[in-house]
Amino acid sequence: MLSLGVFVGRNWSRAGGPRILFKMTLGTEITTLLKASSCSAADRNFLKWDLPPEQIKTRTEELIKKTKQVYDSVGMLDMDKVTYENTVQTLADIEVEYSVERSMLDFPQHISPDKDVRAASTEADKKLSHFDVEMSMREDVFQRIVHFQQTYDIKALKPEAKRYLEKSIKMGKRNGLHLPIEVRNEIKTIKQKLSELCIDFSKNLNEDNTFLIFSQEELCGLPEDFISGLEKTETNKYKVTLKYPHYFPVMKKCSVPNTRRKMEASFNTRCKEENTNILQQLLPLRAKLAELLGYNTHANFVLELNTAKITDNVTEFLDVLSNKLKLLGEEERVFILNLKKKECEIRDFEYDGRINAWDLHYYMNQVEELKYSIDQEKLKEYFPIEAVTEGLLNIYQQLLGLVFEKENDAHVWHESVTLYTVKDSSTGDVLGQFYLDLYPREGKYGHAACFGLQPGCLLSDGSRMMSVAALVTNFTKPMLDRPSLLRHGEVKTYFHEFGHVMHQICAQTDFARFSGTNVETDFVEVPSQMFENWVWEIEPLQTMAKHYKDGSRVPDDLLEKLVASRLANTGLLTLRQIVLSKVDQSLHTNASADPAEEYAKFCDEILGIPATPGTNMPATFGHLASGYDAQYYGYLWSEVFSMDIFYNCFKQEGIMNPRAGMKYRNFILKPGGSLDGMDMLQNFLGRKPNQKAFLLSKGLFT
Ligand SMILES: *[C@@H]1O[C@H](CO)[C@@H](O)[C@H](O)[C@H]1NC(C)=O
Ligand SMILES: *[C@@H]1O[C@H](CO)[C@@H](O)[C@H](O)[C@H]1NC(C)=O
Ligand SMILES: *[C@@H]1O[C@H](CO)[C@@H](O)[C@H](O)[C@H]1NC(C)=O
Ligand SMILES: [Zn+2]
Repeated sequence: MLSLGVFVGRNWSRAGGPRILFKMTLGTEITTLLKASSCSAADRNFLKWDLPPEQIKTRTEELIKKTKQVYDSVGMLDMDKVTYENTVQTLADIEVEYSVERSMLDFPQHISPDKDVRAASTEADKKLSHFDVEMSMREDVFQRIVHFQQTYDIKALKPEAKRYLEKSIKMGKRNGLHLPIEVRNEIKTIKQKLSELCIDFSKNLNEDNTFLIFSQEELCGLPEDFISGLEKTETNKYKVTLKYPHYFPVMKKCSVPNTRRKMEASFNTRCKEENTNILQQLLPLRAKLAELLGYNTHANFVLELNTAKITDNVTEFLDVLSNKLKLLGEEERVFILNLKKKECEIRDFEYDGRINAWDLHYYMNQVEELKYSIDQEKLKEYFPIEAVTEGLLNIYQQLLGLVFEKENDAHVWHESVTLYTVKDSSTGDVLGQFYLDLYPREGKYGHAACFGLQPGCLLSDGSRMMSVAALVTNFTKPMLDRPSLLRHGEVKTYFHEFGHVMHQICAQTDFARFSGTNVETDFVEVPSQMFENWVWEIEPLQTMAKHYKDGSRVPDDLLEKLVASRLANTGLLTLRQIVLSKVDQSLHTNASADPAEEYAKFCDEILGIPATPGTNMPATFGHLASGYDAQYYGYLWSEVFSMDIFYNCFKQEGIMNPRAGMKYRNFILKPGGSLDGMDMLQNFLGRKPNQKAFLLSKGLFT
């Protein structure tokens, strides 16, 4: 994903591609386990990580077969025999077991040390995803649910059960299950086509192998170790690809404007022909589907499930924000233009009097170096991973009223993985467990993510199942002469992902559907973003910092500079996020709009830095085809909430204040998705959320 893209692990209610109506489960596994075991379900982690490929295959088939049987049994009910137990309860029970079993089958693809296991797991995931879609289209099941709603006094249901019922019907309608068979067939055809187009769009980007060739002089400004890591050509030049680890260092550090110009043009021309072509099919097809389902635009179809509800809300949010940031953006642009002018004089380059797309990263980087002068390499010596982990776990335990106990001899998938049990510190009740899998391995998932593995919800016998999550990261491995040292950005990632882990574990719902992070897409980053604030505060930073050689504290001036640097380039960076959000909304509101033109228009109007003619950035915009369609604004939108929470509770009552932390745990984490995000915020804040704290965090005092 782009720079702000932080991936939340598999999350079925919001996974890319089709949204799933029901999740269902293998009938007997858990009940059998329950009977065989003397301890209560709350203490049970049902997950097994030693299934060989053959078993993954057979268990996948069994899971599909048994689940389908349950669906069939619901779908075949006589209408006048429909009850709560044989519809909602039956489906919800199977959903719990399905999700646990599915984790055992589809999670190994990301973390198993065994190649064959990973392959079997990927295969299982494909089959199960296909099956999920099939079950989401079960019109017979849908009709029985609707019948139940119409004939039963639903006011008598518990609020969460009522919500389950209503959401199920809503999702059914969003799949067109209430429409005539011809329309349903058309919808199915469109969905399949959309799914293929999205896969191809992403695949084209992933498989793009474009590289450029530069001489040593053309790469002037880049560090030695970067250049020596590049592949050499026969003519003694260097191959530079457009992958992030090459692209961004060149854009930030290379002092030769022509090199940056060529790089930027190539980067934003990746897959131009193929993906422009795909967008020309994808956007009208999405609009068509929305129309068949009764929505005027694809954006409004998507936003209905989010806290934003409608495009107009998003547009207003982005426009107000962009106006407020205009002045700051201009100041920053003038500042870097001045840097450019001076540099052109010194180096005797021609000065064209403007900031071009290929100048932006370069001069923003200079701002960081000049204005804030932080030596990230020096700083990271104070953050060995053991100290950071200990500090992080302590902060979360203290704030949220939890105790983490490390399990010895835990059943895990690799020797470097650790398992912790999470208890409530006042009652001693077990809430869940989390795995930490921190270091890179051959074939392992290469980014940072939280994976929900076992939902913290009720089992069919009414007992509560503990919640289980895994934190998977790609932090540098320890070496012989030095431990794993984390850059500040990595410490931030660690806090962010652990925020998702806490959300997953502290949520306690009745239904698996609403467990953990199963909240609105534009709300799901709130808990994780909220906790990022702790890595910008001196006190928590010092509790995590310990120089790896002598255990010393970070010099205060270094930390003060770090904290100040949070505001570096904030105007331009936020305006750029607004541009991308506007493009995303616009393309999903008017399907005949031209992607390249829309992008160029917003770049001019909002950022004041022109798009390079001939490029087509939207054709490289992975979010458009990976489940973020019409939702890119969510990154900024949820920051508004997380900042409102942070400033108006933790900043007021103390960032290490357990009372504030408990309130947060109870009002924001514990409900999971059983309440609307907006209602949780209102309960927590005692008022509607507003943008003041967010603007303050961007350096705007309004
Ligand atoms: C968005 O629009 C809806 C419906 O028009 C309105 O009820 C709601 O308050 C708006 N929400 C926000 C956050 O602006
Ligand atoms: C994960 O770490 C390994 C080893 O440091 C590195 O080669 C790889 O590029 C990293 N993955 C990503 C996606 O950055
Ligand atoms: C959609 O975009 C096209 C092409 O830019 C434009 O001609 C048309 O007026 C737009 N429609 C609306 C409703 O804005
Ligand atoms: Zn996240």
